[in-house]
Amino acid sequence: MKQDALSIKQINNFQKQQYEDYERNSANSLLKKYTSILEKFKNKNNLKILDVGGASGYFAQALLDYFDNGGGGGWGINIFVVDYVMYDTWKTNNGKITFIESSVEKLRELFTHETFDIIFANRVFHHFVGKTWKDTIKGIYQITGSITGLLKNDGCFCITDYFYDGYFFDTSASRIIYAFTSCKIPILVSIFRKIEAKSAGVGVCFLSKKMWLRLFESHGLIVDNLYEGYKCKKSLRMIIYGIFLLLKNLQEDNVMILKKSV
Ligand SMILES: C[S@@+](CC[C@H](N)C(=O)[O-])C[C@H]1O[C@@H](n2cnc3c(N)ncnc32)[C@H](O)[C@@H]1O
Repeated sequence: MKQDALSIKQINNFQKQQYEDYERNSANSLLKKYTSILEKFKNKNNLKILDVGGASGYFAQALLDYFDNGGGGGWGINIFVVDYVMYDTWKTNNGKITFIESSVEKLRELFTHETFDIIFANRVFHHFVGKTWKDTIKGIYQITGSITGLLKNDGCFCITDYFYDGYFFDTSASRIIYAFTSCKIPILVSIFRKIEAKSAGVGVCFLSKKMWLRLFESHGLIVDNLYEGYKCKKSLRMIIYGIFLLLKNLQEDNVMILKKSV
């Protein structure tokens, strides 16, 4: 089936700087969260891994170190990173990891003959934003379809992302945050940035836990493991978010391990 063009927006330089620092500081702790999965693949020969939105490559390098330094009993590992933006770190790439500067919209064209044992999408899905909230959700469904198609039947799709559960309507916080962050009025952009919205002016689309589970179900993906992340406690900030974003629950860095239901 032919896919519609999604026209996902690209992050800006402000975000790029922030994400590079964040990835550098969190790559090893992120790797630890996936240890149980990595263990399962450590003796596999010709292991193929894809990191979608792999940014500056610190996580991909941590993966390579894991398999090279005793984590792997098998031979041959290929790690691919696809990101819309090329970070400076890739200028000194040692060639062991393949970086592809492209949007995930092109995944099917990029990998016509390849399938992967493990596909990572860490803190990236909420950046797949289109022109409207509805387009964005449609895009997220299409991309999940493309990724599922690239996963081996015994492979694992590993996502780290947030849960933003709404009050009254499950999707309310998702819709409101999308509307606020995609607003381009300069004064509002600088206000939103001051209250930690790095994506102000570009847009961001967080999903609730129920939205994630519906997304997986509709693509025949089974949740093999779900490690729920830090639940933001009741604080003044959460009360304000609750009122303005109709946000009931915010959970950071949830790790979702998925398998195909074949
Ligand atoms: C918040 S960073 C996450 C980086 C890293 N995965 C981590 O966990 O630290 C999101 C990354 O996704 C990339 N990204 C956003 N939309 C993309 C798209 N449509 N195609 C490819 N990469 C995308 C951004 O360029 C950015 O580097």
